[in-house]
Amino acid sequence: MTEPRATTGALHPANPAHALRGGPTRVSAKAETFTESVIREMTRLAAAHGAVNLAQGFPDFGCPPELKEAAKAAIDADVNQYAITWGAQDFRRAIAEKVGRTYAGWTVDPETQVCVTCGSTEAMIAAMLALVDPGEEVIVFTPFYENYGPDAILSGAAPRFVELHQPDWSIDEAELRAAFNDRTRAIIVNTPHNPTGKVFTRAELDLISELCQRHDVLCFTDEIYEHIHYLGDGGHVPPATVPGLEDRTVTINAMSKTYAVTGWRVGWAIAPPALTGAIRKVHDFLTVGAAAPLQAAGVAAMGLPQSYYVDMAEKYRERRDYLCGALAQAGFRFRAPDGAYYVLCDTTDVDPDRDDVALARRLVEQVGVAAVPGSSFQPDPADGRSMIRFAFPKRIETLQLAAEKLAALKA
Ligand SMILES: Cc1ncc(COP(=O)(O)O)c(C=O)c1O
Repeated sequence: MTEPRATTGALHPANPAHALRGGPTRVSAKAETFTESVIREMTRLAAAHGAVNLAQGFPDFGCPPELKEAAKAAIDADVNQYAITWGAQDFRRAIAEKVGRTYAGWTVDPETQVCVTCGSTEAMIAAMLALVDPGEEVIVFTPFYENYGPDAILSGAAPRFVELHQPDWSIDEAELRAAFNDRTRAIIVNTPHNPTGKVFTRAELDLISELCQRHDVLCFTDEIYEHIHYLGDGGHVPPATVPGLEDRTVTINAMSKTYAVTGWRVGWAIAPPALTGAIRKVHDFLTVGAAAPLQAAGVAAMGLPQSYYVDMAEKYRERRDYLCGALAQAGFRFRAPDGAYYVLCDTTDVDPDRDDVALARRLVEQVGVAAVPGSSFQPDPADGRSMIRFAFPKRIETLQLAAEKLAALKA
């Protein structure tokens, strides 16, 4: 566990000179505290070098045709004006029904417990702005999805980092216990987890529940990969279904990954009514609402049969196995992910210099494959120096091309 601080792989310590500088080019102290997203920067580099983009986690295959038809029909039917700010009623109802269908015993009231947002990215920052006060702490497991650091800082909170330990990215109970204190307002869980592929176990969630109750802490859980895991039925446990967490959990989700529509920017937060009320207010003033015709298509998405999810997970398993084979051949070491669609690799054997940023640059410029340097998932960049993340939401042909290129690393 590390002390709270305002740095992540994408963050730099606040510049003390900030207050001394003025003029039209001065930016806010908050904005100075973090850099652009490294993940999104790698995508731009991949395009510039014509490299296979295994950096940013977006599919290079189509979304279900039912969704395209529903979106087109909604535009034709002139569903083109603002939806209700916290989400079209039929979409909220469809979300609540799908949750109930998928997880026995989890009942969501679409009138009071759902806020539709512009992707899960907006759901998380809206929740943090709505529920966390400046000076409070938010516990974040490392390595972590790079948005959570800036999310905490934008909401005025200090992230307190707790390490997930290799090889299986486990939680050290004593470290987690020690991280909770009087200032702790929330813990961020991300399961299945980006970048490690960890899926939180019931025992881990029980521990988190015990600690959240003891210290009166909220649980923000990002479950954007809820259907992308390799553990079979019941493998993913939503924290909101864990005893003790029901009335203190904000569940963040989106259409982005499950339905291969990352560009649609449709997500949602599910939370107890009092919390939802605050999230809805913040969301209204941040964005007013998510695209109305795409929410209509969201109703079609929520209506897809269970076989859609089974089939999707199976296809992801094939992609995972293919990429893992190619990465092992190329000399990377890793633990095959249990969930999500990333492989976080130890680069010690292919990069004795332990310079993840230089390796990522070499991969994109000379090998022709884009990946994300491990330091962008760590509060202290030094902790990610011998790590790199590859994403596999790609057609097998794309992964084959990447495999051919990666083979050059050993040549
Ligand atoms: C853990 C996690 N949360 C959120 C997001 C972003 O989701 P959205 O596109 O719905 O904003 C990503 C994207 O990679 C992610 O990996």
